[in-house]
Amino acid sequence: MLILLDTANLEGIRKLNDMYPIDGITTNPSIIVKEKTNFIDLIKEIRSIIGTDKMLHVQTLGTTALEIVEEAEYLNEKIGGNFYVKIPVTDEGIKAMKILKEKSIKVSATSIITALQGLIAAKAGAEYVIPYVNRIDNISGDGVGVVSEMVCIFEAYGFKTKVLAASFKNVDQIKRACLAGTHAITAAQDIITQLLQHPLTDWSVEQFTKDWENMYGKGKRTNNI
Ligand code: E4P
Repeated sequence: MLILLDTANLEGIRKLNDMYPIDGITTNPSIIVKEKTNFIDLIKEIRSIIGTDKMLHVQTLGTTALEIVEEAEYLNEKIGGNFYVKIPVTDEGIKAMKILKEKSIKVSATSIITALQGLIAAKAGAEYVIPYVNRIDNISGDGVGVVSEMVCIFEAYGFKTKVLAASFKNVDQIKRACLAGTHAITAAQDIITQLLQHPLTDWSVEQFTKDWENMYGKGKRTNNI
């Protein structure tokens, strides 16, 4: 089970990559432009923060298979490390995925709304499929249901393709995606942070400290009494 951060914000990436067991970064064009800076410099900086082993997903903008393949080759060469080119599941995107499979450039198929889009992307050679849970929920669909269907289809037919669930707006969607067997999730910094937060945890820690310090004194810990 992998946990990725869906952001290009360097400060957030530095902080959360240091603190939490983060397996990589996903971005999309909207996320990139929020940072209002040079694209390639930004991506290279993200790569240098997370190192070469962690996954980094960057999306193409081309509308023909040829344009997408050219972008993928450029990005793969410039960024390096454990790189995935994110390609939307359009007709031309699927054609590009087949070509990139032959060239051994790893693909994550994105903008997935239905399980059958995921199936076609898997057949075309995508390593990950990225269903948009909250965007599906927003059109009265069942985002986690789509995750579950793809997990089931991939298992039934022995695909190596994995589900990387995305577009979360709350932690309950993530919990349900995990229960549906998603192989990975990606979410924004605030949602990842909320996975851990609970006032009862904070209260419990405060009580333990209070009890301990009543007995041993302020600032005393297990290694200095
Ligand atoms: C992930 O890879 C997607 O680009 C992203 O999660 C979309 O999320 P949003 O629906 O919150 O914009």
